[in-house]
Amino acid sequence: MSAHAAPTKRLTLRDLAVKKDSGEPIVMVTAYDFPSAQIVEEAGVDMVLVGDSAAMTVLGYDSTVPVTIDEMLMLTKAVRRGLTKPLLVGDLPFGSYEASDALALATAQRFIKEAGVDLIKIERGGTTVDRARALVNAGIPVVGHVGLTPQTATSLGGYRAQGRTADAALAVIDDALALQDAGVSLLVIEAVPSEVTAALAPLLRIPLIGIGAGSDADGQVLVFHDLLGIYAGGAAKFVKRYADVRGVSVTGVQAYADEVRSGAYPAPEHGYRMPEGEAARLQELLAGR
Ligand code: KIV
Repeated sequence: MSAHAAPTKRLTLRDLAVKKDSGEPIVMVTAYDFPSAQIVEEAGVDMVLVGDSAAMTVLGYDSTVPVTIDEMLMLTKAVRRGLTKPLLVGDLPFGSYEASDALALATAQRFIKEAGVDLIKIERGGTTVDRARALVNAGIPVVGHVGLTPQTATSLGGYRAQGRTADAALAVIDDALALQDAGVSLLVIEAVPSEVTAALAPLLRIPLIGIGAGSDADGQVLVFHDLLGIYAGGAAKFVKRYADVRGVSVTGVQAYADEVRSGAYPAPEHGYRMPEGEAARLQELLAGR
């Protein structure tokens, strides 16, 4: 028997296809730094998205629009250092891919070369379908994102469910099918009625990951800070909180502050002592000056 444990194998797109075919749900979650990457890896998720939701959850912007390529790259590199097995998805921020195929390719290549992502996510149908095709033709696996697309939420009437009428639902489905035809490997569908997901899912060969889109997708994605209750902002209707990390954190920091103020911290066991005799010698040295 070898003394070395076998290295953990990174999941592949083929593994996701097998899960889709067998009906085993695909678990995706966001992460934005080294410790959150280690946490989601240990929790056994399949895919990790360094979403541009980082703009709001960790950088304090009031939407995803202002976040820059360099900010996203810094966060994505940190997540890469904390991940081994799950597939890593990089999210191209607003303004970094829409204008041309060349721009999309240049930005996507930075995320792959500098941050080591496995796939690139871009938002919307429309002209994004051409950008997706260009990336796929250049050998880059792409994740499409339809329904509510936060980067263009203003033109969608704000952060609200999409595809609520039959005509609007058809437009979402057409975006999804156009992205599939362009060769994307995976689709995220956000904030649509469950009937839209149920109608779309049977039309797709590729895995469909839902967020606020009902249970008919091949998997689900949630934002790390939402599901753990870290983010102070209001959560969308579809978020389920599985923990109150913010509450636990505030309580912990308050307890520390109380103990510093009362003198209970630090106690002797939290400090260092000089070896026997050295403190007395130090006093002699000081006195002899
Ligand atoms: O940026 C993000 O976190 C996302 C997910 C919500 C899908 O796009």
